[in-house]
Amino acid sequence: MKTAIYPGSFDPITLGHLDIILRVASVFDKVVVCVMVNAGKRPHFTEEQRVDMIRRVVEKYPKITVDSSSGLLAEYSKKYEQPVVVKGLRAMSDFESEFQMALINKRINPDLDTLFMASSEKYTYLSSSLVRELAEYAADISEFVPAEIISEVTNKMQSGRITRSKNKQIQYPVMTE
Ligand code: PNS
Repeated sequence: MKTAIYPGSFDPITLGHLDIILRVASVFDKVVVCVMVNAGKRPHFTEEQRVDMIRRVVEKYPKITVDSSSGLLAEYSKKYEQPVVVKGLRAMSDFESEFQMALINKRINPDLDTLFMASSEKYTYLSSSLVRELAEYAADISEFVPAEIISEVTNKMQSGRITRSKNKQIQYPVMTE
């Protein structure tokens, strides 16, 4: 059975991610969405929160499961019999780093291929960071994330904003005579 692994940081999952997951599920027998560590990013949601949000979104699709790993993708993929990594591409700017990662993964695990799926046009501009920023300003994010996670994302980003603004309060020096 061919298994598609769709890795990402999903901080949080967006409708762009979900669009890719569902289209991948129409091609493969099984899809594993795997929350992984991106060394270049500091996540806002814990690994557990991200896994839980994705589970709530995909629980109605029996072909799709959710997992997490803090290891290398090329090593993680060895858990599966015939794994294929699938990555979504929004624009050419995504391509260079994704191509580099596909080649490194293949070097570590020569049995591992990476397929690229073009993002749907309506989601080419969408990213988790954009969603987080909108949520920080209490903007409506219902067009950008699955309905199941709107309140969690908004609440988390709102509470983060309050904490940050408290920490940023200007400390005036105490004037002495
Ligand atoms: O959603 P992202 O942040 O673009 O996802 C990137 C991710 C998490 C898929 C990538 O950083 C990754 O594969 N991380 C696992 C560690 C790994 O295998 N790194 C690449 C080889 S050095």
